[in-house]
Amino acid sequence: MSRTKIVAGNWKMHKNLEESLALTTEIRGLVRDEVKAKVEVILCPPAISLASMHRLLEGTSIHTGAQNCHWEDQGAFTGELAPGMVKSTGATHVIIGHSERRQYFGETDDMLANKVKSAIRHGLKVLFCVGESLQQREDKTFYKVIEKQIREGLFGLDRKEFSSVVVAYEPVWAIGTGLTASPEDAQEIHHFIRRLIADFYNPEIAENTSILYGGSVKPDNAKQLFAMGDIDGGLIGGAALKARDFIEICKAAGA
Ligand code: 13P
Repeated sequence: MSRTKIVAGNWKMHKNLEESLALTTEIRGLVRDEVKAKVEVILCPPAISLASMHRLLEGTSIHTGAQNCHWEDQGAFTGELAPGMVKSTGATHVIIGHSERRQYFGETDDMLANKVKSAIRHGLKVLFCVGESLQQREDKTFYKVIEKQIREGLFGLDRKEFSSVVVAYEPVWAIGTGLTASPEDAQEIHHFIRRLIADFYNPEIAENTSILYGGSVKPDNAKQLFAMGDIDGGLIGGAALKARDFIEICKAAGA
């Protein structure tokens, strides 16, 4: 299979600068050749740590990414981070559309589409998150919800732009709850997302797009999830804050 296996750690609002560097040093020391050769590892800390972490990771295969960015290049947007600024830290990726941003910061599909376009224009790769709430899972509207998120957030991109997209399926009810989608349920959604991409762009582009699973991935469930045909790695929250757990998950992706 030609798709890249990816494991990204989303540190959310955890770890100050000093703690970020300590965790990075620990992770750097634990990444062995078996992971390096097979898995793209990305660390997404709070933005204040990006530049220093990048320096610490120079010469390694580990990438850094931001958790959010604005769509404008610059301007009077107090507290925001422009995509070019993210890029200037040495970061290669940015997470866009995380459910916590959608839910707590009112980010709409429209805003997210603008963010995605702008980030890609600045040479960043986008980890684009989609996923349904518990209510939507229960009332069985989740296919519709995910399709809308994908269409509105991503399908304004041309084919070349889309090659900078990694999709992350993160069911909201599985985030930080200890509940995980079963490998089969997750696979079903990943397959559905890949089909949407194939229908809109083409089958080859769909085949080459990495689709990650996120939501309570731990060392003891990673292997079963990553064994599914359309699950190409993970976006990891809680377990990414423990170097050994994170590395175990990276190894599972390369197995
Ligand atoms: P948890 O792994 O803590 O459930 O978080 C998942 C997530 O939101 C990653 O972006």
